[in-house]
Amino acid sequence: MHIAMKQLNRKIMVARRHGANNVAMALAGKVLQFPLSVIFRGDKWHLRGFHTTNYKKVAVELAGAVPGRLDVVAEVGCGLGDILNRVPARRRLGFDIDRAAIRWARFLQRFAGGECEFDVGSFDALIRSEVKDIDLVIMMGWFHYMPDDWIRDQMRALLSSKRVRYVMVDEFPEQEGRISQIFDVFGVRVERRHDWQDDKNLLLYRSDA
Ligand SMILES: C[S@@+](CC[C@H](N)C(=O)[O-])C[C@H]1O[C@@H](n2cnc3c(N)ncnc32)[C@H](O)[C@@H]1O
Repeated sequence: MHIAMKQLNRKIMVARRHGANNVAMALAGKVLQFPLSVIFRGDKWHLRGFHTTNYKKVAVELAGAVPGRLDVVAEVGCGLGDILNRVPARRRLGFDIDRAAIRWARFLQRFAGGECEFDVGSFDALIRSEVKDIDLVIMMGWFHYMPDDWIRDQMRALLSSKRVRYVMVDEFPEQEGRISQIFDVFGVRVERRHDWQDDKNLLLYRSDA
């Protein structure tokens, strides 16, 4: 009972902080998206939409901190493209290993008239793409679950095949220092922002320094 009350209070606090408009948008989004999750057999995680998920908002803001014009932005592990869709760039490429998520993202794109290009795959697919210069590569909500060596290998392969100006990645406080230790080798950290909701840090690295 005590735990249930605590969870309810937390939900109320989070809803208050996002504001009534965002909560209404999130609820409407869930109602519309639920049938699509069934049709596309997508992971229910993706019902956690933009309007009441703070780290996604922070990621979009942090993309705005990249100096200069964003010509090409890529997100690996893009899900439905909640973040990518909101980052202003001439070209936006989204990759995800989950075929269902990509089909779902493409459907939403047609429906909402967005302009992101979604493809099934991971770093291998981004590396195979014809783009040579990328202003920002985003990895949000999954990279920190992967083993250190795997992360290092992917970053090495990416940075040796493309000219990447900035990378954005997140980490949980209990892992603090782990992602930084890996990324400090590949670039210079220029920003770190805290997400109050999931209590994680979003890091922006300059990778062509
Ligand atoms: C928690 S979701 C986050 C989605 C999106 N980045 C966002 O924040 O809205 C993590 C996504 O990463 C994808 N993913 C997991 N491992 C991956 C990998 N090795 N390569 C590419 N995508 C991956 C999952 O399929 C899932 O869609």
